[in-house]
Amino acid sequence: MKKISIAIDGPASSGKSTVAKILAKKMHYIYCDTGAMYRALTYLAIQQNVDFENEQELATLCLEHTISFKQAEKEQLVFIDGIEVTEAIRQPNVTNAVSIVAKHAAVRNKMVEIQQEIGRLGGVVMDGRDIGTAVLPDAQVKIFLVASVEERAERRFKENQEKGITTDFDTLKKEIEHRDYLDSTREVSPLKQAADAVKIDTTGMNIEEVVLAIEEVIAAKS
Ligand code: C5P
Repeated sequence: MKKISIAIDGPASSGKSTVAKILAKKMHYIYCDTGAMYRALTYLAIQQNVDFENEQELATLCLEHTISFKQAEKEQLVFIDGIEVTEAIRQPNVTNAVSIVAKHAAVRNKMVEIQQEIGRLGGVVMDGRDIGTAVLPDAQVKIFLVASVEERAERRFKENQEKGITTDFDTLKKEIEHRDYLDSTREVSPLKQAADAVKIDTTGMNIEEVVLAIEEVIAAKS
């Protein structure tokens, strides 16, 4: 069967990466978590004291360092110049700054170039904010995943609890809302449903149900 490209976009904590990973594994496709790339750059900027508003210095960081992935049994490991940063890029200092770093055109141009190279041959499940609109505009399957902010905050709250991270639910909810606001109002490639994307509201759905719903879309398009 011909290998297709699957673009999954949506707001923060809408479950994109969880379902994208499962789909990629089932289909023997490459999984590409584009959010992890913006997070890795943000982590680098923090380490090197680069101002989040300094577009040119951030773009230079992209050129000077290599962000790479490795598929492990349970998760995708993320590396900067060969050093693993999988956990570090999920910490609150990165999460709360990443939307500022990701708003710059020079940064996005570099990231999109790398992402398009990864998706060039198809056989990829890529998740992010602008995959269906900017990175893979010709993807055969485009999904826009949404869920109520309450449910997204609850999912993130539980995930944090499982990892032993203590968080305040209302703070988490406000942070998610704020990140969605920044991501959907920025000038360059804002978070937006592509005209030809299928919207799935996952509020009240479990992971298996979401995967099944996407598989139905894939089957209908194949
Ligand atoms: O998906 P995740 O929540 O890890 O993404 C982190 C941040 O990276 C998003 O809030 C957004 O600012 C940025 N991002 C982006 N474009 C993408 C993927 C992520 O701007 N394709």
